[in-house]
Amino acid sequence: MKIDPWSSTTYQDYKRLRDEFGIEEFNEKIWNDLPKPHKLLRRGVVFGHRGFKLIQNSIKKQKSWAILTGLMPSGRMHLGHKMVIDEVIYYQSIGADVNIAVADIESYSTRGYSLDETEKYALEEYIPNYIALGLKPEKCRIYFQSKNKEVKDLGYLLGKKINWSQMQATYGFNGSTNMSHVFSPLIQTGDILHVQLKKYGGIRPTLVPVGVDQDPHIRLSRDIAQAYRFYNVIKTKDNKIGVFVKKDEEVKKLLDLAEQALKKLNFKKLKRITDYKAIYIDDASEEDIQKIDDQLLKIEVKLGGYGFISPAATFHRFMTGLNGEKMSSSKPESAIFLTDTPKEAEKKIMNAKTGGASTLEEQKKHGGKPDECVVYELFLYHLIEDDKELKEIYTSCKNGKKMCGNCKKYAAKLMESMLLDLQKKRKTAEKQIKKYIS
Ligand code: TRP
Ligand code: SF4
Repeated sequence: MKIDPWSSTTYQDYKRLRDEFGIEEFNEKIWNDLPKPHKLLRRGVVFGHRGFKLIQNSIKKQKSWAILTGLMPSGRMHLGHKMVIDEVIYYQSIGADVNIAVADIESYSTRGYSLDETEKYALEEYIPNYIALGLKPEKCRIYFQSKNKEVKDLGYLLGKKINWSQMQATYGFNGSTNMSHVFSPLIQTGDILHVQLKKYGGIRPTLVPVGVDQDPHIRLSRDIAQAYRFYNVIKTKDNKIGVFVKKDEEVKKLLDLAEQALKKLNFKKLKRITDYKAIYIDDASEEDIQKIDDQLLKIEVKLGGYGFISPAATFHRFMTGLNGEKMSSSKPESAIFLTDTPKEAEKKIMNAKTGGASTLEEQKKHGGKPDECVVYELFLYHLIEDDKELKEIYTSCKNGKKMCGNCKKYAAKLMESMLLDLQKKRKTAEKQIKKYIS
């Protein structure tokens, strides 16, 4: 199995994806710990993560942290695109500072849109919808890849730590892949890591909420961030906490500086083994790792390093198209667009592929299958806030008390009020766009 960020369709087995790629489960223990967890987090739509612990700690301790995500504007914004921004808005409400990349370079390199076209889609379609959905201008910046020098520079410079074989293995590139396409994952790494440059808020935990198709980019960014570190602090196999110097030059100086920092943190039982380029800390435990690493990062920056903290990520499931296929902007019957009229949306919902049985009698007798129903997905992802009400729909469908016709009508009614609300809010949004764009 391979995750391909440019042509992935629908995944069915999310558990298998997690196991195969070493993605951790985003479970109840994690979301229950967050303030007023968003429905996409509570309901398993966000099903996996990498490195979320750091974010959790920042939220708990009210330390600063950042969100960075990106959009590739191509055509109209649909319900699938809405999910990421719903998550972003939630994280903004609990204190994250928000950064959003308009991936115009990627769109040009991989889809063949011009930069001008992408700009138009972003300004006329995506950003007004973001604002209408509730994105606030405070602590929020939206930028274009092509207009941000630091992002492009980083993309170029960070490329030093990755070679062609790795790029081929990760992305399936070959001799006929165009060079801008080859370069676009590095630009995305630039997006993800530039928020930790001093100019953009400095070193801090960064969360990248994305669809799981983006995992290769996440792995690349995490690997590159690691590759630039001077130090590692880990729990060793024999359960000791150790600081290791990763560089081959200036080892003595780096060990000296680490030792000083550890003493300042009040660790007393330090054992330095220069041959291993290591300092073992006998009076430290796993809980101290982050605190120690924070100090080491400061040393790295003083010595001219980047000191990037590996970016964390969460992964959400994809929405199924209304017709049971992939939801896609290029197939209007598969998607509900945020600019659809309630009538258009109603028509799509009434034609949607449900989990209903083939006849009414059958359904009364054996019940429907909400797990295989795209109308139920609409409730789950977008239309119903109250978990109790959702559960009630689920059970009454399963035990044959609910029939698809009425159920669809109810979905269409809820969709109507959502769309009308967005329509109204988009009107005032257009005047505010400037406040968001950097
Ligand atoms: N590649 C993303 C997509 O296809 C868009 C994107 C660009 C992005 N830069 C990013 C996503 C940084 C997350 C983080 O939709
Ligand atoms: Fe889907 Fe509703 Fe039909 Fe159940 S009753 S299968 S939830 S449309």
